[in-house]
Amino acid sequence: MGRKGREIVQAELNVKEVIDDLNKAVASEWAAVYFFWIGSIVQEGFLGEEVAEYFGKQVQGELGHASRLAQRIIELGGQPVDMVGKVDSLSLFGKLQMPRDNTDAVAFVKKALEFEGKAVEYYNKLAKKYFGKDHTTYQLVASILADEVADEDELENLIGKRSARK
Ligand SMILES: [Fe+2]
Ligand SMILES: [Fe+2]
Repeated sequence: MGRKGREIVQAELNVKEVIDDLNKAVASEWAAVYFFWIGSIVQEGFLGEEVAEYFGKQVQGELGHASRLAQRIIELGGQPVDMVGKVDSLSLFGKLQMPRDNTDAVAFVKKALEFEGKAVEYYNKLAKKYFGKDHTTYQLVASILADEVADEDELENLIGKRSARK
């Protein structure tokens, strides 16, 4: 980002804090990418095939989020953190525990719902925090928030809304 763009953010906010918030989001997107990717590969069985296909598509979506967030970090003069070995400690989801049974598609979807739910909460928090202060970051997190809300809804549909809530 150019000088003026940074100045605008600096006038209202601590830029380092914005960068840290965004890096936490990048780590979380990476954890989600990994979960959807491995989930798309290991799942077996009837419903598993369908969920695996859906997960496969999600990999690109979450990776796209990570890229847009990283781009914004660069614009702000920061550096996307090196995620290797750090995803667990930085992401919203902590240490990832995969469902043990690869034929239990519902368990995979529930795990994914946990991810999406936490992402929705986090992006909502960031959207409120940056609203009216840093328009560019606000627009970015609000647009990702809308994607995560849609993801959550699609996942609930995949296993039926009622069983998703159990
Ligand atoms: Fe995402
Ligand atoms: Fe998502």
